[in-house]
Amino acid sequence: MIGPVLVALMLAAPQSDGAPPVGNPDNVTSGKVVPAGRFSTPDLHHPRGCGWCHGIHGDGGFGPDLAGGRGLSWEQFRRAVRDPWGFMPVYSESQLPEQALADIFAYINTLPVATAPGPRYWRAAPPTAPAGQRLAMNVIGCGQCHEPEQKFPRTWLGEVAKDVTFEYFADLIYNHSTKFPRGSMPDFSRERIPEVMLREVYDWMKGIGWRASIGASFAVGQRGGDRTTYTLTATNRGQAGKGLTAEGITVFVRIPSGTTVAGATGDGYVGTMRLAQLGLEPALQYAPHSVDDSGHVERPVPDLSRDVAVWRVKQLGPAEKLTLTLTLQGPLNEEVIEGFEGSTIHWANPGRRPAGSPPVMVYRDLRIPDNGDHERIAPPKMP
Ligand code: HEC
Ligand code: HEC
Repeated sequence: MIGPVLVALMLAAPQSDGAPPVGNPDNVTSGKVVPAGRFSTPDLHHPRGCGWCHGIHGDGGFGPDLAGGRGLSWEQFRRAVRDPWGFMPVYSESQLPEQALADIFAYINTLPVATAPGPRYWRAAPPTAPAGQRLAMNVIGCGQCHEPEQKFPRTWLGEVAKDVTFEYFADLIYNHSTKFPRGSMPDFSRERIPEVMLREVYDWMKGIGWRASIGASFAVGQRGGDRTTYTLTATNRGQAGKGLTAEGITVFVRIPSGTTVAGATGDGYVGTMRLAQLGLEPALQYAPHSVDDSGHVERPVPDLSRDVAVWRVKQLGPAEKLTLTLTLQGPLNEEVIEGFEGSTIHWANPGRRPAGSPPVMVYRDLRIPDNGDHERIAPPKMP
């Protein structure tokens, strides 16, 4: 008797007097209210990234399974997110408004309880890994979002490398939502993750080194007859006077089968050569997951077939841009576009420091090469 009445009250309740906002599970999955972002997942479809730690089906992973609701009341659930008990990070209202949180609560209550807890999204770092990596992967959980080598945070810090100290870093972690009120990364509590612990993570990340923040994009430009000119833009997203400079740059573009080079512009154009003779490997799109308990992963055998067009540029400083063009003779179709896959911008410095090299680093991000560093150049979009 009480059950249905309560439900009716809840549905009718205005959002006051501590009454929970009424959640709509569709808002979590439809992508209507909650836009799909980089940290959204197919099922626990929320850009705040709950799914990275709690499993994309809410079946558990680094954190406990949430599917079925665990028998938590709205108040208990809310408390676990706003003022958590353990290593679970804190989501502030600016990042996750009450209504969005109620939607997640409603959604997880629609999911069937997991029969067996799911695997972690990223495997634990093995006992032989550096202490900072074990803390990030196994204890605090940074690695569930930032992958085994904190590649993206080390890149973002490289954009302001001159400003980065432990204090700067700690402020970003403990007061993240102050700096990114609508960001996806929650706040970590200084009480639960004390500075001694965070400093270990910082020293490990700094030991591998901050990364030059280089991005490169490729676009279809002018067309005439059977010739197409492609424009490649490489950007150093570092802040002027603060970011890292990439030195010793090699840009190589894979020449799709059925096309030939009819021209190229840009300082430092070297010409074409066999990729196998260049001595560099194409960048990988994804960070491979570990395959066994040691964290050991094999880098896939690189495809070194075909020719590449090559540019060599001395350096690309923070806030600087490089524009190159390549004119190809031949058709323009999906196959040709796919043929660009493997195009890469490589720089000799800064690369991984010894702390990031094997055998010290057993659990690695194999997107990052052994010498220097690089980024993938995504193939252009068909016009
Ligand atoms: C960095 C990993 C991480 C992320 C991201 C994360 N959680 Fe958690 N969560 C945990 C861990 C670990 C626990 C276990 C308790 C603890 O250590 O705090 C937990 C516990 C919980 C609990 C309490 C479960 C119980 O039975 O008491 C709830 C509820 C919860 N999380 C909801 C969420 C929601 C909702 C999100 C996204 C908005 C989220 N979590 C994002 C790691 C995470
Ligand atoms: C739930 C996923 C998630 C977890 C867990 C997480 N981060 Fe982040 N982090 C992000 C996202 C997303 C951003 C980009 C800014 C934003 O959206 O908040 C970010 C940004 C950062 C930045 C850069 C901020 C800037 O100035 O651009 C650093 C440094 C960082 N994270 C370090 C860490 C560390 C260290 C941990 C563990 C203590 C951690 N992160 C845990 C998702 C996460």
